[in-house]
Amino acid sequence: MPPPNENETYAGRTFKDSNKIYRLPGDQAELERLSLQHQLLRGILGALYPCDASEINDVLQVPSPPDGRRPQVLDVGSGSGLWAMQMAMEFPHANIVGVDINESRPAHIPQNCTFETGDITRGLSRYYNSFDLVHCRCMTGAVREYPVLVRELWKCLRPGGMVVTGEGDLQVYNEQKVLAEFRKDNDDDPTHSWLARLLHEVLSLNKRRSATSIGWQLKEILQDDGGFEDVNYKRRYAPIGWAGDGSIEQGEHVGRMMRKNCYDFVRAWRPLLLMNGFPAEQVDMWIHNIDVELHNPTVLRQYNVWHYAWAYKRDDAMRQ
Ligand SMILES: C[S@@+](CC[C@H](N)C(=O)[O-])C[C@H]1O[C@@H](n2cnc3c(N)ncnc32)[C@H](O)[C@@H]1O
Repeated sequence: MPPPNENETYAGRTFKDSNKIYRLPGDQAELERLSLQHQLLRGILGALYPCDASEINDVLQVPSPPDGRRPQVLDVGSGSGLWAMQMAMEFPHANIVGVDINESRPAHIPQNCTFETGDITRGLSRYYNSFDLVHCRCMTGAVREYPVLVRELWKCLRPGGMVVTGEGDLQVYNEQKVLAEFRKDNDDDPTHSWLARLLHEVLSLNKRRSATSIGWQLKEILQDDGGFEDVNYKRRYAPIGWAGDGSIEQGEHVGRMMRKNCYDFVRAWRPLLLMNGFPAEQVDMWIHNIDVELHNPTVLRQYNVWHYAWAYKRDDAMRQ
C-alpha cells in the first residue's frame, strides 16, 4: 500500500509530508505528544539546551549585542512550537523562528517568536548566513541523508554561531544500560522487551529509506562536516515508567512522562506498520503488551537514550 498523501488520513491518523519521507502523523494527537516529549527532554537536560547556559548567553550575546542587533535563533522542524516559544521567553532580546512542514500553529505565541511553513528537504536557502543559534531536534526521520541536513544547518549560521542537534534512539536499553533484547511472538521471557520489538520493526521499515537511529553518530557527523569547531556531545538515559538510576533529577516524574510518550509514540507508528502489511491484530497485540510492560516495570526496567551534539561554525569556514 502506498504511503498516504499530504493531509490524508490513514488508520485514524493524519499525515503532512508531501515527500513521504517523514512517516509519523502530523495531527493534534502527535502535536500533543511532541509537547510532552519536549517537556520531558527539558526535564532530562534541566534546560532548553544541552550545553552550559554561559555558552548560549555568549552566542546570543546576553543581555544584548553591542551593535543593537537582535540575535537570531532558528528551530528547524519546530513541531509543537514549545522549544521556540520557551526560548523566546527565556531570551526576550532575541528573535526565534520556527520552521516546519506542518502548518499548525500553537496558541499564545510570544511577540519575538514566529513560525513559518517550509519543507527542509528543499533546502534552507532563505535562512542562509542569518542565525546565531540553529536548533534541530528529532529530525532524522524527516530527511534521507542527515549529513546533508547538517550542511544546510551550517549554511544558516553566521560565523561563530552555534548548532545544537539532538536525537533519540529508536531502540531501548535495559536497567544495565545494555541494548534490550526484543520479544518474539512466542517468546515468554519477561526480560525481553515488547517495546524493543515494535521499535525494531519500525526501524527495519525505516532503514529501507534512511538511517533512523543516528544519535550515536551525531558528534562524528558534525566533526566530519568540516565546517564546525569545538564539537561537543552529551548522552542521557531516560527511564521509561520508573525513576532510573538517580542520575536524572526528578527521575520519577521524567519516567512517568517518558512512559506516556512511549504509549503515544507506539500508537503513532501503527499506521506505518499496517501500511507495510503487518496485520492490525498483531500490531494491536504488541501495543497492548507494551502498555502492560511499561505499566509496572519490575522485571524489565527500560531506558530510552537521547543524544545531543553541539558545535560552532568556524570563522574561517568559507565552504558552501
Ligand atoms: C519528531 S518531530 C520533532 C519536532 C521538534 N523538533 C521537537 O523536537 O519537538 C519532527 C518534526 O519535523 C517536521 N517535518 C517532517 N518533515 C519535514 C520537512 N520536510 N520539512 C520541515 N519539517 C518537517 C514534522 O512536521 C515534525 O514537526
